[in-house]
Amino acid sequence: MLLVLGGGIAAYKCLELVRRLKEHGIAVRCVPTAAAEKLVSPLALAAVSGEKVYDSLFSLTDEAEMGHIRLSREADLVVVAPATADLLAKMANGLADDLASTLLLATDKPVLAAPAMNPRMWAHPATRRNLERLAADGIAILGPAVGDTACGEVGAGRMVEPAELLAAILARLEPACRPLEGVRALVTSGPTHEPIDPVRFVANRSSGRQGHAIAEALARAGASVTLVSGPVAIPDPPGVRTVRVETAREMAAACEAALPVEVAVCAAAVADWRPAEVEATKIKKEAGAAPPLLQLVENPDILAGLARHPTHRPRLVVGFAAETGALEAEARTKRAKKGCDWILANDVSRGAVFGADRNRILFLSGDGPAEPWPELSKEEVAARLVERIAAALGRRPA
Ligand code: CTP
Repeated sequence: MLLVLGGGIAAYKCLELVRRLKEHGIAVRCVPTAAAEKLVSPLALAAVSGEKVYDSLFSLTDEAEMGHIRLSREADLVVVAPATADLLAKMANGLADDLASTLLLATDKPVLAAPAMNPRMWAHPATRRNLERLAADGIAILGPAVGDTACGEVGAGRMVEPAELLAAILARLEPACRPLEGVRALVTSGPTHEPIDPVRFVANRSSGRQGHAIAEALARAGASVTLVSGPVAIPDPPGVRTVRVETAREMAAACEAALPVEVAVCAAAVADWRPAEVEATKIKKEAGAAPPLLQLVENPDILAGLARHPTHRPRLVVGFAAETGALEAEARTKRAKKGCDWILANDVSRGAVFGADRNRILFLSGDGPAEPWPELSKEEVAARLVERIAAALGRRPA
């Protein structure tokens, strides 16, 4: 969300607003006008928002990092609070002489304004005219409230309280933030441990970070998520039903129990094989005896099982491919072999994926060209995947 602050005394209330928005998981970028900065410091806004504060139209570094057009369009909603008589007049007339007014003219996103001014200014025919124009332009106006104003006069002119503004913002943002509301999703994550005896097992290097990030991102987008996780050292993601398992067979059973779902994402590094026999007691080292031979048998393929499910195939089945050879060719073969819809392939030949922060994905959604994604954090990969899922389910434009 983008918050444009005008130079009204109520600007101080915006610190509380930003704090409450953050509690709801909403990222806020603040753009105070020069007058607003006299009432609330950019430092305080940066501290509560946890984001850089943008205040200069001609700052070359900001233009290089992020143009003002992008700044105004990356948000899902633009809020103007307090919307002073001056700022409303500029908006109504298309003036753009500072960063705040320029963003308001450049944006293609919904704008919500919370006016705050002296009651006479609010009642003035010029302000009335401006409000009519703004309404015709589709700008939503919230308030002002009636009561004592900072200038000592009583009447309509107080900015609405942060709680009211917060509720109005949430009502506007939630449908955009939660495109997967009502969608059931299943995610597998982490390694599996395949016991050899009560103390030893066969496993792999998966940390579960990518799968957990996907489960969390799906839940944040409104999906009802079951995460089936092998043994990992990271916490359960918030808002997700996590089922902890050890072995591939337990993981397969937990996935079956989670059906039906619309979306399944298999990010677990399932052990392909397990020891044929699990010794009931610890295998002892006998002096002079040869080391035991491990006889392995194949584990169920969970991804293929979901993609070819006889009765409950999810609408969208997504798999990962960890490859060390020709990435695209291997991924295409894997997609066909497993019968899944999408494959996120990554090259693990240099050992840079397991437990790492960042991931470089080759995205394969069909027979068309593969889509190389830039190097992204695992959270960014998750967010990108969730957007694609929302688009594929018709919840958001592709
Ligand atoms: N997968 C699974 N169940 C298995 C093995 C793999 O669900 N028993 C899933 C993984 O979660 C991943 C995808 O299949 O989404 C591919 O995993 P990968 O290890 O790359 O492929 P394998 O099937 O093991 O094939 P290979 O080892 O021959 O590359």
